[in-house]
Amino acid sequence: MRFQQNKEKSSIKKSVITIIFDQNIKSNRFDGKVLKIKIEDIKNASLYKLRLVLRNALRTAQAQEIENLTIDFNDIYKLAELAHVKSDVAKVVGEELSRAEIAQMLGYEFVLANYNFTDYISKKKDAYNGIKNVYINNIDNKEFKELNIGQEIAEVVNKSRTVSNTPAQDMTPEILATLTKDEFKNIKNTTVKILNKKQIQEQKMGALLGVAQGSSKEPKLITIEYKGGNKSDKPLVLIGKAVTYDTGGLGLKPAEGMVDMHMDMSGGSVTMYTLLSIAKLGLKCNVVGIIPVTENAIGKDSYRNGDILKSMSGKTIEVRHTDAEGRLILADAITYAQKHYKPKAIIDIATLTGAALVAIGQHASLIMTNSCKSKLPNIARKCGAETGNKVWQMPVWDVYKTHMKSKVADISNLSNVRWGGAITAAAFLSEFLDKDQDWMHIDIAPRMEAVEGDNLAHGATGEPVYLLTKLADRV
Ligand code: BES
Ligand code: ZN
Ligand code: ZN
Repeated sequence: MRFQQNKEKSSIKKSVITIIFDQNIKSNRFDGKVLKIKIEDIKNASLYKLRLVLRNALRTAQAQEIENLTIDFNDIYKLAELAHVKSDVAKVVGEELSRAEIAQMLGYEFVLANYNFTDYISKKKDAYNGIKNVYINNIDNKEFKELNIGQEIAEVVNKSRTVSNTPAQDMTPEILATLTKDEFKNIKNTTVKILNKKQIQEQKMGALLGVAQGSSKEPKLITIEYKGGNKSDKPLVLIGKAVTYDTGGLGLKPAEGMVDMHMDMSGGSVTMYTLLSIAKLGLKCNVVGIIPVTENAIGKDSYRNGDILKSMSGKTIEVRHTDAEGRLILADAITYAQKHYKPKAIIDIATLTGAALVAIGQHASLIMTNSCKSKLPNIARKCGAETGNKVWQMPVWDVYKTHMKSKVADISNLSNVRWGGAITAAAFLSEFLDKDQDWMHIDIAPRMEAVEGDNLAHGATGEPVYLLTKLADRV
């Protein structure tokens, strides 16, 4: 999709459809020239709802197989001004968004909404392929530049969605590692390193290796370093769970729960593309992405319920459930991060628990930290409000750690109590942190897939790449 600053309105061709927002119609309307988008209750709207309106406009245009659009930026800003009254950002941080920021939102949301995952659909020649041109009236150069930033970020988010959406047979640990190398080949200030199984063994990452045992595919550890800040500044480390397929292992998932588990590598794709987005924007900060990659498969050598693994930290872990594999590979990645990078903060991103969906539904990711001193949740909340990547905090009090005790090893990967599964998973991770290590966990299972009302294509959401891109140089 291409945006163009429309300086000479008269030159617009006939085939270009005008989008208008209307508060007085009952449903969206298209008369062949003008596409009217219904606006509901704007006085009670929020900036988040405005995002939904923009996506709705774009996807309605797609449904009409429109290729060229024109839109007046003043109209959008007017809506934003009305919505500002109760804006998410104003509520969280007491600030309102500028015209430039609204322009970024427009660029971002249109590109995000124009995405469809069609890689596996046999293509007919001349088939409709989404919006091609968007002409924008009444947008100045500074605003247009900001719109292009939104566009650039969304294009990266869409790449992350494609990687998550790709079926497991085509997104193996090896393929993900090669893809990472390719994506960063020409990106300034970045270095990608891939550890193979032998090197992972040398690092003594027994938890990652344990999960990988059942798969014919070797695990990988991908690291991406970005140096945009001062040489001596400690990095922010992002750690992304990349289970290329989660069968549950010998503790097999039922078929209904297994569908879509090719997306269990979404933490990894989010991490990789957050690094790409940060590097493309040239942010002045140092960030490292660490992505442990494996399949959780069934094989003759699968790890078993009851096995005891020795993690890189030296802690032994009783595997009481092979389906709680994410926390195992993250534990080793956390140890690896602390040993090799001395991070100023660690944020892990993972489709970690079904319990997170039980807790909050499918409309926000859960953020958790073990220390009330950490500034990370507040920064994340602010960035979440600014980007529409919703997050909500849950506690990780010490009492939850007591649920992860094992009678035969240093720790168990399964809680002794039935409730609070998203929190006990985080409590498990927190046991692998060095003293005073600043850390936040994001359970993105709730936002793994878009839902009705998101006004996005079926499949992965790419959240929270945008949030983390905003957060990277504020930590
Ligand atoms: N990948 C799943 C969590 C998940 C479930 C993500 C649904 C997205 C949608 C994770 O590895 C898992 O299986 N967790 C178990 C943990 C349990 C065995 C303690 C779960 O949530 O059931
Ligand atoms: Zn699992
Ligand atoms: Zn999993």
